[in-house]
Amino acid sequence: MPRPERHVFVCTQSRPPGHPRTSCAERGCAAVYEEFLWQMQQRNLFNRVQVVATGCLGPCSEGPNVLVYPEGVMYAKVGRGDVATIFDEHLEQGRPVQRLRMGADFW
Ligand code: FES
Repeated sequence: MPRPERHVFVCTQSRPPGHPRTSCAERGCAAVYEEFLWQMQQRNLFNRVQVVATGCLGPCSEGPNVLVYPEGVMYAKVGRGDVATIFDEHLEQGRPVQRLRMGADFW
C-alpha cells in the first residue's frame, strides 16, 4: 500500500446519555463516517487518502469533528452533505474548506 497523501480522522466517539460533554455520536457522526467511506469508494482514492474512525478529538461541543493531516485542519459541525465538498476542495485539490474550519476558540 502506498503512503497516503492525507489522513482523515473522523470522530466516532459516543458517551452515555446525559454526559456533560455529549459526543460526536449524538450529533450524527456515524452518517458522516459512512459518507466519507462512500465518497472514497466512488472516487477511487484508496491510494491517496486514508479515512480512519477515531475516538474523541477534544472539542466535543463542536462535533461532528473531522481532522485532516498533514495540514492539521479541524472541521467542525460536519454534516453528511459537507463531505463531498471536503473531498472536492481539500482532499483532491489541497484547498481546505474555510467555511467548515473550527473556530480558533476551540482549536
Ligand atoms: S466526541 Fe468527538 S471530539 Fe469529542
